[in-house]
Amino acid sequence: MKRIYLHPLPVRIWHWVNAITVILLLLTGFQFRVPGIASLSPHNFSLALHKWAGITMTALWTFWLTYGLASGTLRRHYAIRRRDLRGIAGQMKFYLMSIFRGEKNPFQPTPEEKFNPLQKLAYVFMMGIITPVMILTGLLFVKVFFIRDYLLFVNAIKVIDAIHVTGLYVFAIFLVIHVYMATLGATAFSHIKTMIVGYEEEADDPAGGGREAAAETEMTVEKESEKL
Ligand code: HEM
Repeated sequence: MKRIYLHPLPVRIWHWVNAITVILLLLTGFQFRVPGIASLSPHNFSLALHKWAGITMTALWTFWLTYGLASGTLRRHYAIRRRDLRGIAGQMKFYLMSIFRGEKNPFQPTPEEKFNPLQKLAYVFMMGIITPVMILTGLLFVKVFFIRDYLLFVNAIKVIDAIHVTGLYVFAIFLVIHVYMATLGATAFSHIKTMIVGYEEEADDPAGGGREAAAETEMTVEKESEKL
């Protein structure tokens, strides 16, 4: 059994605190969408929780960006290269078809490159676009420097609200797909365990796992026995 160190401690702590924060933001955010609850008092508990979780998310995103730039992990793991674009179709085929035939994932993570092309696209989209948009639109709701009053005055608050709510749905969809994908390792919990302990365990046999590989091995054995 080989052990590969994929997620350093700061990334793991960031990830789980961020996950809890996003879940809190989603739960409180959806609560505001329930008809009749829209006109909450400014002292409402969910509203305060949403605001503080939003501030936490801003701090976490700043940490993710600073750590990623300083440690080089952003360039190493998140940069989308030409070979990633070429690998999109193969990776999609794996998730939509090959995985159900028990075939092996065409991408194997290494400490130098831990995300497949689809993971890269999803993470860059969520961390590089959606999270900053949510932070910015969220901050505009907070009463700082009269910005909110000005936006109300020019009627722009509705547009900002629409963008913020759209982001909420994008986050919810991402979370469902992300958690499903997180269960697609060797066992349902192996990727999740890796995100907790940092290490991924891999069978020594490079062909190990996939039924296709097993079928190939069986065919070779059959051919060898025919020769005897
Ligand atoms: C309970 C919910 C969650 C679970 C079980 C989970 C699980 C995982 C796992 C297993 C990984 C490892 C890599 C992979 O398999 O893709 C991962 C990575 C990642 N997750 Fe989550 N996740 C959750 C919530 C979230 C949320 C809410 C976000 C919000 C943006 C998020 C963003 C990320 C990012 C950006 C990475 C890559 C981290 C890195 O640089 O290594 N996850 N997640």
